[in-house]
Amino acid sequence: MQKKRIAVIFGGKSSEHEVSRVSATYVIRNIPQDRYEICMIGITKEGKWFLYSGDIDAIADGTWEQDKNNKVAFLSPDPSIKGLTVITEGTCKIIKLDVIFPVLHGKNGEDGTIQGLFELSGIPYVGCGVLASAGCMDKIITNIMLEKFGIDQAAYTWFYAYDYRRNPEKYLNRTEKALGSYPFFVKPANAGSSVGITKAHNREELKTAIETAAKEDSRILIEENIDGYEVECAVLGNEEPVASIPGQIAPAAEFYDYDAKYNNAASELYIPAHISEDLMYQVRVNALKAYKKIGCTGLSRVDFFVTKDGRVLLNEINTLPGFTAISMYPKLMAACDYEGSALIEELIKFAMERVEQHE
Ligand SMILES: Nc1ncnc2c1ncn2[C@@H]1O[C@H](COP(=O)(O)OP(=O)(O)OP(=O)(O)O)[C@@H](O)[C@H]1O
Ligand SMILES: [Mg+2]
Repeated sequence: MQKKRIAVIFGGKSSEHEVSRVSATYVIRNIPQDRYEICMIGITKEGKWFLYSGDIDAIADGTWEQDKNNKVAFLSPDPSIKGLTVITEGTCKIIKLDVIFPVLHGKNGEDGTIQGLFELSGIPYVGCGVLASAGCMDKIITNIMLEKFGIDQAAYTWFYAYDYRRNPEKYLNRTEKALGSYPFFVKPANAGSSVGITKAHNREELKTAIETAAKEDSRILIEENIDGYEVECAVLGNEEPVASIPGQIAPAAEFYDYDAKYNNAASELYIPAHISEDLMYQVRVNALKAYKKIGCTGLSRVDFFVTKDGRVLLNEINTLPGFTAISMYPKLMAACDYEGSALIEELIKFAMERVEQHE
C-alpha cells in the first residue's frame, strides 16, 4: 500500500509557539512511519513557513530554524494543487499532501485562521473547522454560546478596552454589580495558556488586571471566581464523539497559570478525577453537549470547574489542546485505550472521514 503523505505544522505566531513545538514532537513520534510519509512544516514566530527535514529532536528546542536544508514552503490555497509549494533555488516544486495535522496552539493556529486556508486548499485536516475553532478561541463568544445552549458556566460580563478607558468608573461599577464580591478573573477574549489572565481581589487590582488583559486583546472578559476542582474531559470524533474519563488538575500555584502548566512539576494530574461517579457523568454529558452543539470535529479538550456543592461549570473548550508528554488530552485518551499512535491514527481517520462525507 502506498504511504499517505501527512504534513505536521508546528510553531507559529502565537504566545504558545514553544508549547506547539513540544506538542509536535509528540505527534510526529506517534505517526506510524510504515504507513505515512511525514512532511514537517515549521512556522517561525515571525510567521515564515519552512519545510524542515532534519532531526525531530531539534524541533522542541527551536534549533530546527538554523537547519541549512530548510526550504521556503507554503500551502497553496488552490484546490487543484492540494499541496505544498516549495521554493528551492528559484524554482517551485509541488509536494502533494493527503492530510494535514496542525499542531498549533493559540492565535492563528487554533482560532480558525489557518483552518480557513486548509478549507481553501481542499486538503483534509485534523481537528475543528473554521467556525468551531474561532468560536472556542474567543472566550466571550464561547460564554455567549454556552449560555444559549443552556450549559452552566461562571457568571460573566464583558466590554471593549476602548470603552472602558473612556469611562472606567462605569465599567468597574457594572462589573461589581454583575459579579458580586471579589475575587474576579480578568481575561483577554483571545489568549491561551493563561497569558494576560489575572485574579483580581479588589478594585485596584481589577484596574491593573484590565490593563494587563488589554495588552492581549481589545475585548475583556471578567468572570466570578469559582472555588472548585479543575476537571478536564477529552472528546474525540465527528458526528458521534466519545468523551473520556474526566481528569483533574491540582495546580501548584494559586491558579493554573502559564508557569504552573508548563514549568512547575508540582502541578499534578489525577486520572480519573477525584469526584463522585455522578459528577463524572455530568462532566461527560456536558462536554459532549457543548462539543456537538458548537460543531466541534476531530478533537477538543473541554475544561470544567466542579464545586464542592456539586455544580459542574464549563470553563472553556480547547480545540487544539496540548500534546506534550505531560498534557492532559493524550493522557485522558490513553486511559480510554487510545494510546500514542492509536490516538493519532484515529485523529487522522476522522479528518479523512469528514472530507469523504462532503464529496
Ligand atoms: N472563573 C474562574 N474561577 C476560578 N478560576 C479560574 C476562572 N477562570 C480561570 N481560572 C483559572 O485560570 C486558569 C486559566 O484560565 P482559562 O482556562 O480560562 O485560560 P487559558 O489561558 O485559555 O488556558 P488554556 O491554556 O487552557 O487555554 C484556569 O485553569 C483556572 O485555574
Ligand atoms: Mg484553560
